[in-house]
Amino acid sequence: MEPRSAITTNPPIQPEYGILKLKDRGFIVTRRLDIVGAGKAGKTLARLWAQAGVFEIGSVLNRSIESSQAAVDFIGEGRPVERIDGIGPLDVLMISTSDRYIEECAQSVARERKASPDAVVFHCSGSLSSDNLRALQQIGCHIGSVHPIKSFAEPTLAIETFDGTFCALEGDEPAIDCLQDAVARIGGHSLEIDEANKMIYHAGSVFASNYLTAMIYAGVRCFEKSGIPYTQAMEVVQQIVTGTVGNIFKLGLVPALTGPISRGERKIVQKQLEELAQWRPEISDVYRTAGVLAVDMAHAQNGASDSELEEIRQVLKGASESAG
Ligand SMILES: NC(=O)c1ccc[n+]([C@@H]2O[C@H](COP(=O)([O-])OP(=O)(O)OC[C@H]3O[C@@H](n4cnc5c(N)ncnc54)[C@H](OP(=O)(O)O)[C@@H]3O)[C@@H](O)[C@H]2O)c1
Repeated sequence: MEPRSAITTNPPIQPEYGILKLKDRGFIVTRRLDIVGAGKAGKTLARLWAQAGVFEIGSVLNRSIESSQAAVDFIGEGRPVERIDGIGPLDVLMISTSDRYIEECAQSVARERKASPDAVVFHCSGSLSSDNLRALQQIGCHIGSVHPIKSFAEPTLAIETFDGTFCALEGDEPAIDCLQDAVARIGGHSLEIDEANKMIYHAGSVFASNYLTAMIYAGVRCFEKSGIPYTQAMEVVQQIVTGTVGNIFKLGLVPALTGPISRGERKIVQKQLEELAQWRPEISDVYRTAGVLAVDMAHAQNGASDSELEEIRQVLKGASESAG
């Protein structure tokens, strides 16, 4: 017979014989995960957790019963339900609807039921904080969020490539403890972030991914303006981007900065800004704003003198004032 502490049980969660009592008796309990919104992210995480035995999957609620059934089929476990009142007493609940429905779903769930003593509710948004779940906190749930920094565009592929994914967590302590364990057991790496700065945390990805793409778009437009056809412009940019990204991760951010600002070449910056402003004012605005950040970085390089760099800063700011 196995020692009691090694036994994993999947008990129905009943108020009179709840998780805490089982824990007190030395059982390791697999908690039940109910899901509202099992789409790309939700069903992928649920399947990973089910396969690893982290959670037993309970109710799955999407907008249509057909979609809930399809999610259950993908996860390989669970019970499709048609309405929020079909979800049992709360143990662990993931609200992985798209961001705009999270707060509304939390309020609907909170209206329907009481929480078990250590119930945990979380969402998966990268920009909203766990505060959007406060309706559930008010009925006694611990609240948190887990944002896997990964694209779940293709769930089957996301399952295969999840190992090593960074997941940003925030919330109250019991929720963080539960989520850290759940993330670690499917091979993820947890990062704890400040709830008050969740939106700014998300801006980090916007800069490093979305705006990197927008910057490359600006670069390609400039090459095309000089007469290089699009296909070749893309080849040139691929070389530059690959080389720069390689330098950033090999040498570090500040040493990787090159170009006219790094060299303190005020006249070039000024002329470039003027010509961009005449041709495409929106691209010159980006040049100016990103240039101010490059000036800060160039100060840390000890290449160009402080006075040269401050003159460049004035050029960049002056363009902003005259444009405004
Ligand atoms: N996709 C990603 O790469 C990714 C990465 C990290 C984090 N996230 C986060 O994960 C969350 C979900 O994103 P997603 O891309 O997985 O969205 P998604 O594929 O559009 O899935 C959303 C799911 O929520 C269901 N749903 C929407 N409103 C509902 C409601 N009122 N009641 C019940 N179910 C509802 C939808 O049901 P139907 O199928 O019936 O329409 C759908 O299954 C978001 O917070 C997002 O920020 C996504």
